[in-house]
Amino acid sequence: MSQVSRFYSGPGGLVGAISAALDAAGLDRRTLRPADLAPVDEFHIRGRAASLEIVEALALTADSHVLDLGSGLGGPARTLVELTGCRVTGVDLTPEFCEVATALSEWTGLSERTDFRVGDATATGLPEAAVDAALTLHVAMNIADKPALYAEAFRVLRPGGRFVVYDVLQGEGGDVRYPVPWATDPSISFLATPEEMRELLAAAGFQVISEVDSSEESLAWFQQVRARIERDGPPPVSFAAFLGDAYGQMAANQVANLAQRRIRTVMFACSRPS
Ligand SMILES: C[S@@+](CC[C@H](N)C(=O)[O-])C[C@H]1O[C@@H](n2cnc3c(N)ncnc32)[C@H](O)[C@@H]1O
Repeated sequence: MSQVSRFYSGPGGLVGAISAALDAAGLDRRTLRPADLAPVDEFHIRGRAASLEIVEALALTADSHVLDLGSGLGGPARTLVELTGCRVTGVDLTPEFCEVATALSEWTGLSERTDFRVGDATATGLPEAAVDAALTLHVAMNIADKPALYAEAFRVLRPGGRFVVYDVLQGEGGDVRYPVPWATDPSISFLATPEEMRELLAAAGFQVISEVDSSEESLAWFQQVRARIERDGPPPVSFAAFLGDAYGQMAANQVANLAQRRIRTVMFACSRPS
């Protein structure tokens, strides 16, 4: 198992832990909706709100086949399916996350339109021009070989298709404070700057349609999450289910990293020219 997968794999038994937490909170599995799972399966800053923006940017229809590179627990994939009726293939390096993603799709009745497989986002094994759209959310921070990642996204996307990247980038405020939710130390953390991202995407062949820096909203999101927990208590299940007790320190560091401009959150909407 790679160092990255080891970081994300918790103590094991994640499907059972999530299931037990939902039962304890009295959530009926037969009426479970993707939004109910967002505190645990939308594993990126600004959670479901960010995925809703990405649905817009991908310009999907019910006929679209979409590839999610680094699909995690599958929250973004299910949000896309729920809102558009599209079909999503997710590829992720961490086997336990693929297992959980598959179970959560069964519980929400979306199995037929999602498929999660273990693989590397830099070499998915999918045929050329296989998908109508692609996305990657908070994954490239763990990938040193970014030219390979964006070249793979370009290769599998059909000409004219959209590709959206929403990632944590290196800010101008200095080195990242660790631990963070993608790494305990710099050994598996590789952040690009916004300038480097523009060059990387252009070098892969993409045309950048828009670039949106949401760092202020990201900071506000952490504050809203904290205020909600103080008011209503913690959600039934959260990222702590796999990140463990360290998640509290990771979240506090993210607030400091954003406030001190050590990190930025930026979304790039791109197209593969026809
Ligand atoms: C912070 S999570 C984001 C998950 C998901 N995109 C989301 O937003 O909910 C990062 C994910 O990237 C995956 N990952 C990291 N490096 C990868 C690689 N080379 N190929 C595929 N997945 C990778 C990890 O296993 C993890 O699931």
